Amino acid sequence: MTGPFDLLVGPIGCLVPCDAPAPRTGPALRDLPTIPNGAVGIRGGLVAYMGPYEEVAGAESKANVDASRQTVLPGFVDPHTHIPFLGDRSAELVLRLQGKTYMDIGRAGGGILSTMRAVRNASKGSLLEAARGTAARFLSHGVTTLEAKSGYGLSVESEIKQLEVLGELGDSGPQTVIPTCLGAHFVPPEFKDDPGGYVDLLCDRLLPEVARRGLAKFCDVFCEEGAFTIEQSRRILLKGKELGLLPRIHADEIEDTGGAALAAEVGAVSADHLMAVSDAGIEAMARAGVCATLLPGTSFYLRKGYAPARKFVEAGCPIALSTDCNPGSSYSTNLLHIATLGVFGLGLMPEEALWAITLNAAYALREHDRVGSLAIGKRADLCVWDVPSPLHLFYPYGENPLRAVFSGGRRVLGGV
Ligand code: NIG
Ligand code: FE
Repeated sequence: MTGPFDLLVGPIGCLVPCDAPAPRTGPALRDLPTIPNGAVGIRGGLVAYMGPYEEVAGAESKANVDASRQTVLPGFVDPHTHIPFLGDRSAELVLRLQGKTYMDIGRAGGGILSTMRAVRNASKGSLLEAARGTAARFLSHGVTTLEAKSGYGLSVESEIKQLEVLGELGDSGPQTVIPTCLGAHFVPPEFKDDPGGYVDLLCDRLLPEVARRGLAKFCDVFCEEGAFTIEQSRRILLKGKELGLLPRIHADEIEDTGGAALAAEVGAVSADHLMAVSDAGIEAMARAGVCATLLPGTSFYLRKGYAPARKFVEAGCPIALSTDCNPGSSYSTNLLHIATLGVFGLGLMPEEALWAITLNAAYALREHDRVGSLAIGKRADLCVWDVPSPLHLFYPYGENPLRAVFSGGRRVLGGV
């Protein structure tokens, strides 16, 4: 059945549904089908029709949007952000530009611990206000689904405060928010001499409470020299998994500590960063079907090397791209800019970069049945871009040609 619709977007100059079985891997990533003169019909907040405009041209609809000169894609999905946060770490940017490393700053009590102090001291209301502000900026870049992590509370009480804020952010919309517990982001000062005691606290108190209250879908760990070891990470991820929290991991970001192999071993949904990953780590992830979530904004902002994206594609690993939005290592909400870095930094083709911020990013959150593509029955999250083809999202760069955003079929940004 086609109409009647609540909203008919069409005709659309170039419709890019990103509709395929998830995940998209290997050579298929180069193929991004488009429908010239397309249409999307929406009913009850879901996609009810997707295809050529001519088939629904006369259909009844309560509202119509003409996008005949534009390109329509699904709302973008960001699978790795660190909102909510507060505070100002701009001074660290100068320190880094003067030659201090990211981990030096962290070990000296700045970095993650500086944001921890701001978050611990904040009321839930002010954290929520900050999160809403950041989410609004994501929306202005076409992001309609985002993963968001705790990890700046680093105590049972403050981690839960962050996750409650994320619950409220998702409930109030307009974006879909997928919460992750990252209690294992850094060892807090009160456990400086007893990191094992902090791991006990995470496993015995925080994770069980988070799981019992349904506050997060994922459990994440910053597995890195100076943060959590392989053994500690394994224990935390397996504990989370036993409690029903799916594992994901910050792996091999700065040094190769075997984080990618651990991701494969524990059946992680995704391993993220991977700038220093070994070839063996890539193979292990490919065999286990772990998604490689690459964060080229972090390489750019920390002035580091880029992850070996082409090797992941060649190995058949699913790849996704994300901002890593956080106040230290990558302060950006502009996922199109990140996709651009995916092309010019990681060496991806534009088509590959677009799969990596739509269908594959949704797969990296195990939300691909709901979001990440325009297919019948999925959420009607879509963006109207003022470009003649998806390639023109990359051809002029550093621009924001977004004209309108619809979330669950409702216009939440712009006119057309
Ligand atoms: O993913 N690497 C660890 N965590 C974040 C940075 C967090 C921060 O610096 O506040 C990241 O890059
Ligand atoms: Fe991160």
